[in-house]
Amino acid sequence: MNNTRLKIGELDVHRLGFGAMRLTGYRPAADRTEAIQVARRVVELGVDFIDTADAYGIGANEELLAQALHPYDNVLIATKVGHTRPSPAEWTPCGRPEYLRQAAEQCLRRLQVERIDLLQLHRVDPAVPFADQLGALARLVAEGKVRHVGLSEVSVQQLREARQYVDVVSVQNRYNLTDRRHEDVLDYCTAEGIAFIPWVPIAHGEHAGSQLLGMIAAELGATAAQLSLAWLLQRSPVVVPIPGTSSIGHLEENVAAAGLELTSDHLARLAALSPVG
Ligand SMILES: NC(=O)c1ccc[n+]([C@@H]2O[C@H](COP(=O)([O-])OP(=O)(O)OC[C@H]3O[C@@H](n4cnc5c(N)ncnc54)[C@H](OP(=O)(O)O)[C@@H]3O)[C@@H](O)[C@H]2O)c1
Repeated sequence: MNNTRLKIGELDVHRLGFGAMRLTGYRPAADRTEAIQVARRVVELGVDFIDTADAYGIGANEELLAQALHPYDNVLIATKVGHTRPSPAEWTPCGRPEYLRQAAEQCLRRLQVERIDLLQLHRVDPAVPFADQLGALARLVAEGKVRHVGLSEVSVQQLREARQYVDVVSVQNRYNLTDRRHEDVLDYCTAEGIAFIPWVPIAHGEHAGSQLLGMIAAELGATAAQLSLAWLLQRSPVVVPIPGTSSIGHLEENVAAAGLELTSDHLARLAALSPVG
């Protein structure tokens, strides 16, 4: 893997990470063998930043990572709290401080760690004062249960506000080549040295099937998915894409994207693909 690394807090990671969400469904699978093989292959390939959440499989995703990778030698497991899953189709924010604290305790147990390296607020709950949600996270840091705090789906204004209450080392917002609504957040993170973790980096796989991307990728001897990831990596030095897959073939392909160099001509053609926003 390309050696380009980034510091998230004082933790040093390769800039191409892995999103574990797709390793589990809403309910735990009876047979985890394949998912465990994928998780172990992630680490064998040199990926050392893995994103999960308590909401993925309502805990099953964190349990799977623990089964596959504990004690996580030199691998940063980033998890999230603050989103509930009353049913497979529902994602409902819950930012009450006592709930966030309990959720973090459960993450600690499932991941079998004394401290969570990176705990991200999955969603800001509009029904709870933002300062209270941040206060709960800051308290977890003060108690030594969480090393670093990140946020997800926030605006620049929210990020500025949050930093008055807690040190924010990462932001996880939806962003990819054809969805650039959070361009201003990425620019703010770049200027401030905050890691920016774009979720759905290959647009739920849509980019992999794009003919236009496929044509440019072919010039580089690469695939459309790799091109999409390489564009993200070159967009800013603080970007850490977390492509998700349940397939070892796709995983290997995605990790190899870290070694792909795009010329200014490629970047100009890709930049023209979608207007900002
Ligand atoms: N913060 C948030 O609110 C939030 C929300 C959603 C997701 N996330 C995080 O972001 C991560 C990534 O999101 P995502 O998995 O939804 O989207 P994604 O990474 O953009 O796309 C994943 C989809 O693309 C397919 N795929 C992956 N690599 C491919 C390749 N090389 N060629 C062809 N198809 C490929 C996968 O299918 P196969 O399994 O068949 O490879 C899967 O259907 C998640 O795992 C999760 O950790 C965060």
